[in-house]
This record gives sequence, structure tokens and C-alpha cells, in this order.
Amino acid sequence: MTTVKPPPPPALDRFGLKSPKGSLPHPAEHAWVPIRDLHARHRRRILDHLLQLDERDRYLRFGSQVSHEQMAKYVASIDFKRDEVFGVFNRKLHLVAMAHLAAMPGKGPHGDSSRGRAMEFGVSVLPSARGKGLGMLLFKHAIMHARNQHASHLMIHALSENAPMLRIATKAGATVERDGPDAEAWLKLPPDTVGTHLDSSLQSLAAELIYRVKYRAMHVSDWVRLLVASA
Ligand SMILES: CC(C)(COP(=O)(O)OP(=O)(O)OC[C@H]1O[C@@H](n2cnc3c(N)ncnc32)[C@H](O)[C@@H]1OP(=O)(O)O)[C@@H](O)C(=O)NCCC(=O)NCCS
Repeated sequence: MTTVKPPPPPALDRFGLKSPKGSLPHPAEHAWVPIRDLHARHRRRILDHLLQLDERDRYLRFGSQVSHEQMAKYVASIDFKRDEVFGVFNRKLHLVAMAHLAAMPGKGPHGDSSRGRAMEFGVSVLPSARGKGLGMLLFKHAIMHARNQHASHLMIHALSENAPMLRIATKAGATVERDGPDAEAWLKLPPDTVGTHLDSSLQSLAAELIYRVKYRAMHVSDWVRLLVASA
């Protein structure tokens, strides 16, 4: 008689996500990329980042054509006490990717939604930094933070034509609901754990430290260059 072993449970990564079948992880998913928390004092840098998106990207990000003034209004309206904003800086400390994780009004535990408390994810990566896995990394980072905020679901509002965004969401296991040109991707989140809180605090600290070290190093080298030039 042969005993049939039950199949092993699907492997979960540290974000609580199943590895998608038949999909190789992106190289950037192996590397640790510092993702820095952004605060109200970073509004100017967030606006500068968004202004670097061309018309098509602004349309994909916000679902309509957005003028400079509307973008400035959006950035001014971000509630940093309620929401969370994260960013990735390149070697020259330019903000090349950012994500906004926003609490969804009316979708709280006592709201009218059957989905429990949800948070909405919005993201933009500058064209020069795309295709390297940063969008996915920010998505996973947002998952961890949403879990720590006791959200039951993460929602992404995207245009149906936004293949890269929907690819990121479905790769993470989200269900996509299409309604003509619009799509909503919903991802059910596992509850937070001590590990997710620890991970998020350590990542924030490390990202801040790395940013400050790079910032000082850049200024010291500028200073040395000036000294050499004036000698
Ligand atoms: C959507 C966006 C954030 C993706 O950023 P990114 O850093 O390039 O994303 P990643 O590299 O993590 O992943 C993109 C995935 O989409 C896939 N992809 C790219 N173009 C695609 C296309 N035309 N069709 C299908 N899949 C596509 C990539 O292959 C990759 O999947 P893979 O890792 O399985 O190979 C970026 O394109 C962007 O900023 N767009 C403008 C703003 C926007 O649309 N925001 C989303 C709405 S909130």
C-alpha cells in the first residue's frame, strides 16, 4: 500500500503572499531596496516627482488629465496623520518612485462596505526606473503597512488599460473587477503579526539611516570638490 502525502501548503513570503505559479520573481524582489517614509515636510519633493510624469502617466495614475494646479492641490491635501506615503530615492537622492496608501472613507469597519476596513494604493515610478520591480516592491511594502493598520483589504483603482499596474496586483493575488475603462483590484490581507510590525519598523529605520548617510556623503564630496577647485 502506498501512502499519499498531502501536498505541502503553498509557500508564503514575509508579506503573507503566495508565490504566483509559473512566475519567476523579479531580480529586484531579491534585493533590499530602502523605502523611506515620507512626511508633510516632503510635499515639495512629492510634487516635483509627480510633475515629472508626462500626460499619459498622469492619466494612468489619477484616471483623468491632471493639471499642475490639480496636482499641487492633491499633494497639499494628503493627510499624513491618516495615510502613509513612501518613496524610493536614487543614488543622487531624487525621488524616483512613490506610493500613497490612503484610508478609504466609508469603507471602515463600521462603514457601508462588506469588505471591512480597506486602504487604497496609488503609485508612480519615473520612466527611467521602471521595469526593475520597484512598483511591486512598493506594493508589497504597502501590504505590510496596511496589515499593520488593521486593514482587511487593499484596493487599487486603475484603468483597465493599465497592464503593468494590473499585472502587479494580480501577481500579488488580487481579484480584478473591470467596469468598462475602469478596474478595481482587491487584495484580501492577512492579519498583522509581531513580525510585520518589527519588519516595518526596522525597514523604516534602515531606509532613513541609509538616506542620511548618502546625504552627508554627497555634501562632503561637494565640499571636497569646492576645496580642490579653489586651491
Ligand atoms: C504602474 C507602474 C507603477 C509600474 O512600475 P514598475 O516599477 O515598472 O513595475 P514593476 O517593474 O514592479 O512591474 C511591472 C510589471 O508589469 C509588467 N508589464 C510592463 N508592461 C506591461 C505590459 N504592457 N503588459 C503587461 N505587463 C506589463 C512587467 O513585465 C512587470 O511584471 P513582471 O515583474 O512579472 O515582469 C509604472 O508603470 C507607473 O508609474 N505608471 C504610471 C502611473 C500609474 O499607472 N500608476 C498606477 C495607477 S495607481
